[in-house]
Amino acid sequence: MTDVLTPVLTENWGTPGSWQLENYRSRGGYAAARKALTEMTAAQVISEVKDAGLRGRGGAGFPTGAKWSFIPRDSPKPTYLVVNCDESEPGTCKDMPLLMASPHTLLEGVIIASYAVNAHQAFIYVRGEVLHIVRRVRKAVEDARAAGFLGTDIFGSGYDLEVVVHAGAGAYICGEETALLDSLEGRRGQPRLRPPFPAVAGLYASPTVVNNAESISAVPAIIRHGAAWYQSMGTERSKGTTIYSLSGHVRNPGQFEAPLGITLRQILELSGGMRQGHHLKFFTPGGSSTPMLTPDYLDVPLDYESVAKSGSILGTKALQCFDETTSVVRTTLRWTEFYKHESCGKCTPCREGSWWLVQTLRNIEAGRGQEGDIEKMLDVCDNTSMKSFCTLADGFVAAITSAIKHFRPEFEAGYHTPAWELFPYEKSALF
Ligand code: NAI
Repeated sequence: MTDVLTPVLTENWGTPGSWQLENYRSRGGYAAARKALTEMTAAQVISEVKDAGLRGRGGAGFPTGAKWSFIPRDSPKPTYLVVNCDESEPGTCKDMPLLMASPHTLLEGVIIASYAVNAHQAFIYVRGEVLHIVRRVRKAVEDARAAGFLGTDIFGSGYDLEVVVHAGAGAYICGEETALLDSLEGRRGQPRLRPPFPAVAGLYASPTVVNNAESISAVPAIIRHGAAWYQSMGTERSKGTTIYSLSGHVRNPGQFEAPLGITLRQILELSGGMRQGHHLKFFTPGGSSTPMLTPDYLDVPLDYESVAKSGSILGTKALQCFDETTSVVRTTLRWTEFYKHESCGKCTPCREGSWWLVQTLRNIEAGRGQEGDIEKMLDVCDNTSMKSFCTLADGFVAAITSAIKHFRPEFEAGYHTPAWELFPYEKSALF
């Protein structure tokens, strides 16, 4: 396990004009795409990404090369590549700076990935609220096209590719890959039942690869430096570098790129720690849909396996840190209100479960909870998680069950005392 910050994706974030094509090219940009298209077969590109051990950075950690290899080579239908830039998980804020600072890294990855899966049409789905990023990515596509990196006969290889940048309309659920596909098709974004997975029947019922923005952005460096180089970073089964988003009651929130397996203690040490005079009470390893952990887990390597062994999920690597002034009940309520608001309503457990949980949590926050409320919430959670169309419900259930597991007395206190008396607002201000 390496314990230093390792900028690969974030290498040029500080360079003025890092998003401009000429700057990207001056640093060797698009050399990996040229190499892939003119010197490698599609199968070789897939093997390289598989050997590198790259896993999906959207949260699930599914092996990227394996996902690409599921695409049938002999399909009579066209194949599509869709990049998921609908980042919306509370605390998660790595893809947006990535697109803002280096949209050409993503585009170069799009070219290589599309070539690997034999797609001639790619879509970049960006969340609608971040108009400045939509514009930046569109500009990058225009510039890349004008330079001949998109369009027909790219690098004289005979390979053609067009890219469309699509702005979402601000629904969290559209980050779920099948809801995203419905939205791209012009329908209301709601999850589809899987299987079939998008690899079999995705966009317009055609074979489709859906990858997260960070996963695709990692591809050019892998092709440029080779699988062995990427493999040399990280842990046994979680390879490479990744971006950890640090937020909350910390001195220096921001993005920290490091090999998988760094610990939260190390990131806090490198970044200046918790705000002065305060200490960590709990944190999420990967956004609010991943079970919260306590300071006992500060030394857990932040890789897929180690976090799972600790009873949580690495997820999006959104490290939200809360100090001792924070009410766990209030935090859990805010998150649950978010998920209730964002539940698409297609399936009953998620739609109704989130509503009931918010009502109960509001009572507990106000000190109006009743004996048995905790058990009732756990029962609702049990009847919601793994019983819904997609993982949205699993997310809010994870927040609640982990909060009760680690901080049950705080919920019990809500049977008689309001959270704002135990944890006054002004003391938990972020600065
Ligand atoms: P998943 O594990 O069901 O699927 C992951 C990927 O692997 C998908 O692309 C899926 O199509 C593919 N896949 C899985 N099994 C397959 C098979 N047998 N054949 C072909 N393809 C297969 O996870 P899901 O539901 O896509 O994502 C859940 C994760 O999303 C959570 O872990 C959470 O951390 C993360 N998340 C991220 C957000 C963000 O803003 N980035 C927001 C909310 C959740």
